[in-house]
Amino acid sequence: MTDNPASELLMGFPPSATNGCSATTVAEQPQLDELSRDLPVVVTGASGLVGTHLCRQLVEAGWKVRGIVRDAKKAAMRLGHLDLDIRTGDIRDAEMMRSALTGAGAVVHLAAIAIEKRSESYEASNTDATGVILAVAHSTGVRRIVYMSQNGASSSSPYRFLRSKGLAEDMVTASDLKWTVLRPSVIFGPEDEFVNVLARMIRLSPLVFPLPGGGTARFQPIAADDVARAVRKSLEDPATIRRTFAIGGSTPLTLRQMTERILVAMNTSRKLVGVPVRCIRPLVAAAEKMLPRPPVTTGLLELLEMDNVIPENDLTTGLGVEPVPFAPEELLYLREITVASALGSLFHG
Ligand SMILES: NC(=O)c1ccc[n+]([C@@H]2O[C@H](COP(=O)([O-])OP(=O)(O)OC[C@H]3O[C@@H](n4cnc5c(N)ncnc54)[C@H](OP(=O)(O)O)[C@@H]3O)[C@@H](O)[C@H]2O)c1
Repeated sequence: MTDNPASELLMGFPPSATNGCSATTVAEQPQLDELSRDLPVVVTGASGLVGTHLCRQLVEAGWKVRGIVRDAKKAAMRLGHLDLDIRTGDIRDAEMMRSALTGAGAVVHLAAIAIEKRSESYEASNTDATGVILAVAHSTGVRRIVYMSQNGASSSSPYRFLRSKGLAEDMVTASDLKWTVLRPSVIFGPEDEFVNVLARMIRLSPLVFPLPGGGTARFQPIAADDVARAVRKSLEDPATIRRTFAIGGSTPLTLRQMTERILVAMNTSRKLVGVPVRCIRPLVAAAEKMLPRPPVTTGLLELLEMDNVIPENDLTTGLGVEPVPFAPEELLYLREITVASALGSLFHG
């Protein structure tokens, strides 16, 4: 017996014969694995940033989609115009997932949390829930999974968030399902929680804007629509089975360069001043305690100092997707952010 419900569910779940293979090392692929479009694709996190783009693309391409959401109102706003089957529930609930996966042909597992709440830990939401989904997929006969991991995710990471995603990824690649793993750098799009957060903080900072760690950490921002395209290509191309794809946008950019482009998009200016993370940490810790929806947590603050780039980008070469650039004209949605909406976002979603 184990304390971990996911591991319990996974007991007796045979490891894959190709366990440990990576994108670049696996050559032989079963090519008899065209996915039937008669069976629905289950998408967890369907009303999230990537999920919204993915559901639209899949429906437009003629796939039957079953979207798992936990906020029916948000789902109605973001997905209500699409012809898809919406199921409301929590991915940590094995019975709900069993009902959602029954009769499906594949699962795209996107749901995860980046900011913890009292009732939601990284371990339960990101790692154990993935174990639940794998076990349920196994018992309901769903053989295909696309798992959205994260650049930098590793079971040995000192950062709990990255570790929770890395442990989940390891479970996926150790399973005997036909898996594909995607590892994106930071994702941008109208509903993102990275570029929008930076833009909201800019709106609330008069004249000067502090850049954690001097803004020298490098990112490779990728558009949510491109990430969704990468998922769709993965589902449609059996050659992606048992492969891991590191994906990012066209160019690595420092946090400072990203902020400069955000300022142009917002049609505003601020003096950018580098500030050591240790000086910002107490402020972030206080905000984390006081605000219902803190824009960043002390745990995530550390990640703003770490490079998040893709040395070999599989987006174009591996998946045939040409990335949208992180350019001001692609970020015009940031112009809608006002002081009032930026303040409001700290208190409610
Ligand atoms: N955004 C990035 O920069 C980025 C970068 C690399 C990798 N990723 C990965 O990409 C995936 C998709 O990210 P995203 O940006 O689309 O995230 P997102 O916008 O936060 O969407 C995640 C969705 O998962 C749902 N969810 C979380 N916990 C759940 C639970 N216990 N039961 C049911 N639903 C749950 C959330 O529901 P609520 O709406 O109710 O919260 C949300 O709709 C994640 O796995 C993330 O780790 C994201």
